[in-house]
Amino acid sequence: MSNSQSGGAKLWGGRFEQETDAWMDDFHASIRFDRRLYRQDIQGSIAHATMLGEQGIISDADAKAIVDGLRGILADADAGRIQWRVDAEDIHMNVEALLTERIGEAGKRLHTGRSRNDQVALDTRMYVKEACGSTIARLKTLAETLVSIAEKHTESIMPGYTHLQRAQPVTLAHHMMAYVEMTLRDIERFGRARESADVMPLGSGALAGTTYPLNRHRVAQLLGFSRVSANSLDAVSDRDFILDTMYACSVCMMHLSRLCEELALWSSLEFRFVTISDAYATGSSMMPQKKNPDAAELIRGKTGRVYGDLLALLTTMKGLPLAYNKDMQEDKEPLFDALDTLDGCARVLERMLATAAFHVQRMARRASEGFTNATDAADYLVAKGLPFRQAHEIVGRIVRECAARECGITDLTLDELREFSALFGEDVYDALSMKACVERRNLPGGPAAGAVEAAIVQARAAIQAVAGQYDAENSSLA
Ligand code: ARG
Repeated sequence: MSNSQSGGAKLWGGRFEQETDAWMDDFHASIRFDRRLYRQDIQGSIAHATMLGEQGIISDADAKAIVDGLRGILADADAGRIQWRVDAEDIHMNVEALLTERIGEAGKRLHTGRSRNDQVALDTRMYVKEACGSTIARLKTLAETLVSIAEKHTESIMPGYTHLQRAQPVTLAHHMMAYVEMTLRDIERFGRARESADVMPLGSGALAGTTYPLNRHRVAQLLGFSRVSANSLDAVSDRDFILDTMYACSVCMMHLSRLCEELALWSSLEFRFVTISDAYATGSSMMPQKKNPDAAELIRGKTGRVYGDLLALLTTMKGLPLAYNKDMQEDKEPLFDALDTLDGCARVLERMLATAAFHVQRMARRASEGFTNATDAADYLVAKGLPFRQAHEIVGRIVRECAARECGITDLTLDELREFSALFGEDVYDALSMKACVERRNLPGGPAAGAVEAAIVQARAAIQAVAGQYDAENSSLA
């Protein structure tokens, strides 16, 4: 028999005389990784068969046999009772072959009016919709933890930096809330990626649609899609929604990597702003004293890997002629890797933050060194009537003097300050305290406790708004 294997003939074997080289079988098979799509594949097929029956394209009896058969396969797959076969190539043909093995003739009618090209697009879109939902749930937890830390630290003063040089005092709450804003944008980005996946491609066939009177909207409705694709050629060759998802993963990883860089810096002896819990640190095999922030470093490092996933598919897609090309089978491994990597990183980071000890007294001390109140000293003179440019110049000279004497601005006596400007009065000492510097910055978006408290209320509401929205879908991720 031509083209037969230990596992059975190829579903597409009709026009072939020779067998596929065993090596080639292994090379082009995707079951190793697309088995993760089994649930989406089976649910998609159940919807397709239901519609075929409703449209009278196959008999009601066949439709019922197919749906029952598929439900049985799904239950067995969920229970881990199915051995996927490499010789059946991919998840689509594995399921179809198994179905026919179980229910006979009727199974051979499932693929009517369908191609693996629109089928794989469907499965991946379903997967991405769910994955974006569960990523959003994960990020929601991270945002909540960041907000909880912020809530405790609206009065915890720390130095704010530019160029990694101490710049102006802020609070730990304000710093954490900056990451909350990033996380909220990440959540929105995954919401948009999910929307771009929310298009139902079945009915596009291999590339040119199909001759059967399919009801595409019915399939979309059965599977919870809000739209159907508008062009069959595009539908089978569009991977934008995967790129959107991996872009969302990449930007999110970039944000996590920045926070992790700070945790690594802050846990060094040079900073000592934070102690990372032993549960998220590791030691050295040689140096007995070492406690390394490995989790933070790994998250920072894995960011590069996720960018690589995005770049890999962008490069694969470049210059591909319409419509489907087998190159596109290379979309799934980077997609799964990017989602898995982000999920693991967000999970570890959330725990690392929740269990970290912040050393607020040292942070406050560091804030009061390095002339972080110099801008406020200039603003003080401006309030007394001096033009800002002149005030800047005067305070610059004060700083130069203090730097030489290794003291702060408020360590100078009033007489000494008055040598620089007669406008200085007794009130300068209160005006330049760290607390006053922070509290003065009370515009919306600023670090003053009141402004940050308002930001916290808004962020809590934004987090609440995404709460539960996608939770129902989470269960079906592999
Ligand atoms: N395993 C394939 C993929 O992941 C499914 C589509 C194959 N279609 C084809 N005509 N070979 O892209």
